[in-house]
Amino acid sequence: MSKEHVQIFDTTLRDGEQVPGCKLNTEQKVIIAEQLDRLGVDVIEAGFPISSPGDFKSVVAISETVQNATVCGLTRAVPKDIEVAAESLRKAKKPRIHTGIGTSDSHIKFKFKSTRDEIIERAFKAVQYAKSFVEDVEFYAEDAGRTENEYLARVCEAAIKAGATVLNIPDTTGYCLPNEYGEKIKYLKENVTGIERAILSCHCHNDLGLATANSIEGAINGARQIECTINGIGERAGNTALEEIVMVLKQHPYINLDTNVNTQLLYETSQLVSNSMGIYTQPNKAIVGANAFAHSSGIHQDGVIKNRETYEIIDPKDVGVTESAIVLTARSGRAALAYRAKKVGYELTKLQLDDVYANFLIFADRKKEVADHDIHEIIETSNVYQQIASAS
Ligand code: KIV
Ligand code: ZN
Repeated sequence: MSKEHVQIFDTTLRDGEQVPGCKLNTEQKVIIAEQLDRLGVDVIEAGFPISSPGDFKSVVAISETVQNATVCGLTRAVPKDIEVAAESLRKAKKPRIHTGIGTSDSHIKFKFKSTRDEIIERAFKAVQYAKSFVEDVEFYAEDAGRTENEYLARVCEAAIKAGATVLNIPDTTGYCLPNEYGEKIKYLKENVTGIERAILSCHCHNDLGLATANSIEGAINGARQIECTINGIGERAGNTALEEIVMVLKQHPYINLDTNVNTQLLYETSQLVSNSMGIYTQPNKAIVGANAFAHSSGIHQDGVIKNRETYEIIDPKDVGVTESAIVLTARSGRAALAYRAKKVGYELTKLQLDDVYANFLIFADRKKEVADHDIHEIIETSNVYQQIASAS
């Protein structure tokens, strides 16, 4: 059965860049946008053009540069925002305006001091106005995660009537559980009149660590766009991580959805974003963290040396990492030591290994991690060094 396509909407340069201290200049943003385009994302959210002259300039530059992906600019449901976004996207080959408004009771009451009916009217007018500039208009119902489904369906219907091509259902506060978010998408698929004319999009935040699970559940229940950022960066605990979504779909073919992303570029893209923003990626970050393919306990190392698949569900080459790492610590066993010793030029017999291993443990207890140059020292100070040296 052929797979259905799920669009990858990258918002590293908009929601991702909202991380305090991670602001990028136009040149850096263009370099990242070019890399995202090579990576194969379907949509690049380039910025929030009315927010500052710098952001406007960046969206213009990205619109002029990007060749394949749709370029998108964010707005509030405010006419001036929409006019400025349309202007910034003028040179884009495929422009999209992303407009919307908060729909949860707390947003309606506290942020807008408004009513449910008034919010529907504002949503309709914003989409209709955006549509007068571009064909492709995405509508977001901010805080949809905490918006009652029945009301959310009415908002979505209004946005579709006004011409929205994509309906973004953000779990803005990262509150939903996966089954709850999946049911929300299913409910909208089944209850919104005109839904066949629009794509539902997942936009999940990670406040409870559920952003990836929620987005996948949304896609399983019918969403055909997922909004995400490289390394999962974004407001507070961040957004859904692009690399996680892409690899979940690749490693679980029965979900029957695929993306256009060239997974072999994931690691270099992650490094580019992390270096440009000066935001360090946690070592245990799934897919792209420094330890994602590193093995340090003796039992795991022995398994991986015998066959990589014993402890790895992804081939590191598939995400652009050259090879798995066998890290030597005091928890490592003989197999790992023999493996690493061979890599630096020593083929040890079983008896030699026993002797070198005893020396290794004394050394490793003093150090957190044993490096290649330490292996030379360990072997050179072992009882059997003369024997090893004369054999090589
Ligand atoms: O999280 C959110 O609700 C957003 C919208 C502005 C799309 O980022
Ligand atoms: Zn967001």
